[in-house]
Amino acid sequence: VTAVLELRTASSVRDLVGGMRAVRETVAFVPTMGNLHDGHLSLMRLAAEQADKVVVSIFVNPTQFGPNEDFAAYPRTLDEDIARMTGIGVVAAVFVPDVAELYPFGADDPVRVTLPSLSRELCGAARPGHFDGVASVVCRLLNVVAPDVLVLGQKDYQQFVLLDRMVADLRMAVRVLCGKTIRDADGLALSSRNRYLTPQERASAPRLHATLQDVRQAVLRGESDYGRLQADAVAILRKAGFRPDYVALRRAKDLGQIAGGERPEELVALAAAWLGRARLIDNVRFSD
Ligand code: PAF
Repeated sequence: VTAVLELRTASSVRDLVGGMRAVRETVAFVPTMGNLHDGHLSLMRLAAEQADKVVVSIFVNPTQFGPNEDFAAYPRTLDEDIARMTGIGVVAAVFVPDVAELYPFGADDPVRVTLPSLSRELCGAARPGHFDGVASVVCRLLNVVAPDVLVLGQKDYQQFVLLDRMVADLRMAVRVLCGKTIRDADGLALSSRNRYLTPQERASAPRLHATLQDVRQAVLRGESDYGRLQADAVAILRKAGFRPDYVALRRAKDLGQIAGGERPEELVALAAAWLGRARLIDNVRFSD
């Protein structure tokens, strides 16, 4: 069993990665908020295929939570997380900073990354400032770790597209990779927030993914009234007990509005919906 080195300071991470670079090792980085599940572990395995060394971070980032969101309640399970990472044997080190380590001037009025307008659409419409908070912390983490590869999960597809854009737009020297969503047998995407579901809600939860699959099937069958498809999907989710924020069909590569003339494999269907205390998100890329 390989022990996972636990690092609390930016300088210790810089020293470690500097040592790797000195022997010409490449580094892949997986940022997380902890409470690791098989989805996270699959990203770490993907990272290990892409570089010599894998560095993970665990940090529940205050600047990406709204005032009425679940920052305080977000599950913090560091001991279990370290055990799980040790178990897969591909993680060299985990960076576990406190707030002051990543936000040395405090998290209330820090230097922020402002993302383009896509960050205010879809999930950003319901969570003002969320994606700027994500970008603000991932930018800091990339400055500390300086990896060759950044690995993100497809479940948070809008986050992936926006961070890919940040990296390209700020001319950052890192390759951004998207690892596929891991699902329970009934289709529910793994998420730390699934633990907020009651058993009854858990039984309804796979409807989110099923609805997106139905939208995909309808488009593949030739349905072209996307507005109606989206509205019907919202109605189906509502009937199943969800409180949907949106169901949307977009261009997969940049989440732009569909102009018409796109081939089905260029599209993605995305949804966000509340079920009890949990806000669930999911997406289906038609090319998958
Ligand atoms: O996807 C997440 O867990 C977070 O948004 C991230 C990328 C670790 C930034 O806090």
